[in-house]
Amino acid sequence: MTRSVLFVCLGNICRSPTAEAVFRSLAEGRGLHIDSAGTSGWHDGGRSDPRASAEAQRRGYDMSPIRSRKVTAADFDTFDLIIAMDFENLRDLQSIQPAGSNARVELFLPFAPELNRDEVPDPYYEDNFSAVFDMIEAASRALLTTI
Ligand code: 4NP
Repeated sequence: MTRSVLFVCLGNICRSPTAEAVFRSLAEGRGLHIDSAGTSGWHDGGRSDPRASAEAQRRGYDMSPIRSRKVTAADFDTFDLIIAMDFENLRDLQSIQPAGSNARVELFLPFAPELNRDEVPDPYYEDNFSAVFDMIEAASRALLTTI
């Protein structure tokens, strides 16, 4: 049974905090523990990218309470399901997963096969926040049906 979900990207200021905000809103009332983190730690303690927060606000989600943090070994105990935004995140997570950890580590977009893509592109560089948000909303809805 899945009680807790951690979304992970590189910086934890664009894709994974967006997924956290969207999934938290969709899963309201389910009692799930939902969080996000980054593999890099480059933006530790920082707010989400203002371009992501603005797109979230346009769509009715609030990213303002979210602060960036680096994923830790303890996350593999705390969370049942850890969701990677791209293959690099997946590889990085698999490389730090402690032996004996039962957390499932999976890519996000394959939950929504109709998207026909495996990776959430990085909007930090591509500046395609609206398209990325569409993918994250679709995959979040699909993920929720599996939980
Ligand atoms: P994210 O995007 O992994 O979706 O949060 C990035 C944010 C910041 C950087 C790279 C990607 N950066 O190089 O600082």
